[in-house]
Amino acid sequence: MTSTADLAVIGGSGLYSLLEGAREVPVDTPYGPPSDTVTVGEVAGRRVAFLPRHGRDHRHPPHLIPYRANLWALRSLGVRQILAPCAVGGLRPDLGPGTFVLPDQLIDRTTGRERTYVASGAVHVNFADPYCPAGRRAVADTAEQTALPLTGTGTMVVIDGPRFSTRAESRWYTAAGGTVINMTGAPEAALARELALCYTAIALVTDHDAGVDGDHGVTQDEVFRVFKDNTERMRTLLLTTIANLPTERTCPCSSALEGMQPTYPLP
Ligand code: ADE
Repeated sequence: MTSTADLAVIGGSGLYSLLEGAREVPVDTPYGPPSDTVTVGEVAGRRVAFLPRHGRDHRHPPHLIPYRANLWALRSLGVRQILAPCAVGGLRPDLGPGTFVLPDQLIDRTTGRERTYVASGAVHVNFADPYCPAGRRAVADTAEQTALPLTGTGTMVVIDGPRFSTRAESRWYTAAGGTVINMTGAPEAALARELALCYTAIALVTDHDAGVDGDHGVTQDEVFRVFKDNTERMRTLLLTTIANLPTERTCPCSSALEGMQPTYPLP
């Protein structure tokens, strides 16, 4: 089968389109429709799919995003590598609005989401390192080449939302080792691993979380405003990273299901 796209960007809050002149590709899944129509275009000779995580009109709140449909839809188009930009709160004073962070770890505090494709049998994927090492290297190299300041490691705490955290919760996440916090990083990363996809989160800090900010706490307005102000920087980072992503996958993500018989459809 010839694939429609071999890599994808799942856009977060404020990033609702990426590729000029892209064509829409209808796709349905056993898990229902994805968040929105997938568009496919070309960047640096690679066929790239784009899917806005919340929908173009931001109709899906973080806890109701069809995560399983989204990942499955992208894989069914041929996608094997995913870049996942997202807005995050900084859990440390030195991580202020406008800072880029490349997380290497994840703490999943979400509950009640459709978090796995496994409905029967033994399919226990290794998730010790939730993000693709090759994808992370490509982002870090790109940031260095383009002189973009980037914090190269960090632990992303993912909460259900849709409300922001209390100050006590926020301080607790920092004490637990959290670096940044958001509402969409899980189960997205784990579902990507269950489909043996490479998945790389790229976080843009939009605010200091409530435990760091002694003032008013987090507001939706500032999150959206700061992301919008930095959309072009994120877009440039994504498009330049695509040119640096390896075309061959030699990372462990591609063999995540080795020795297991997935009991779910693997498109
Ligand atoms: N997304 C952006 N900022 C956030 C915060 N402070 N908490 C949770 N999700 C966020």
